[in-house]
Amino acid sequence: MKEMTFKELGEKTGTDKVTHHGYHRFYPLFLDQLRDKEITMLEIGTEENKSLYMWQNYFPKAKIYGLDIGNELKYEQGEIFKGDQSDVEVLKDISKKMGGKLDFIIDDGSHVPEHQILGFNYLFNNVLKEGGVYIIEDIETSYWKKGALYGYIVKKGLGHPESVIEIFKNLVDKVNDEFIKDKDIFGDSPIDEKVRNEIKLISFQYNSIIILKKSSEDRPFENRDYRLGMFT
Ligand SMILES: C[S@@+](CC[C@H](N)C(=O)[O-])C[C@H]1O[C@@H](n2cnc3c(N)ncnc32)[C@H](O)[C@@H]1O
Repeated sequence: MKEMTFKELGEKTGTDKVTHHGYHRFYPLFLDQLRDKEITMLEIGTEENKSLYMWQNYFPKAKIYGLDIGNELKYEQGEIFKGDQSDVEVLKDISKKMGGKLDFIIDDGSHVPEHQILGFNYLFNNVLKEGGVYIIEDIETSYWKKGALYGYIVKKGLGHPESVIEIFKNLVDKVNDEFIKDKDIFGDSPIDEKVRNEIKLISFQYNSIIILKKSSEDRPFENRDYRLGMFT
């Protein structure tokens, strides 16, 4: 029997990932390769568990974890931790509880830009496996000059230096730093140096950023001198 697509599974469970957001246009490009594998994943922000039910059907062999500040619902097929994603001690604690490293992490939690960056710095570095996929959703909040969500006030706006989009835009050149003489230009980034050095790919698309972590196949391409030797 033909396996159901990300879109079909999302429609079945009712998550807005495939309705309002239309993330099915992008995520399968990065996630379909994991479908039949025994992966471990974490979603921050579980609400009514609609997306968790989608993930468990999309990744039938996966071990699935969730983190949510308010979710009291039971989730028999995996484990939901209760905690605040903006507290790094919570992230450390759940990392210990999850044990090993994860193949896929998705942040659909508070959508507060500072929380998204804090989570990325900690989880991408310490919890995501080499070659893993990290998705930050609902980056729309970074475009807000003033807004509120889940009791948090967000004040950023187009081009704001603390906008998640700006922060990752500034790292787009990092994947090409072989061609840049002054490598210190990335020094002011809120993304830690160790994390910056492990970014293989950054993809921007509607209301989300997808980041892949380097793996062994990327090591031969690191820290090389530019073969043509010309710097602008
Ligand atoms: C958009 S909903 C998640 C929807 C779900 N992923 C889906 O697609 O069905 C966001 C969730 O993030 C949770 N949340 C808000 N602030 C949080 C925080 N600081 N830490 C952890 N979770 C938080 C909310 O309780 C809410 O359940």
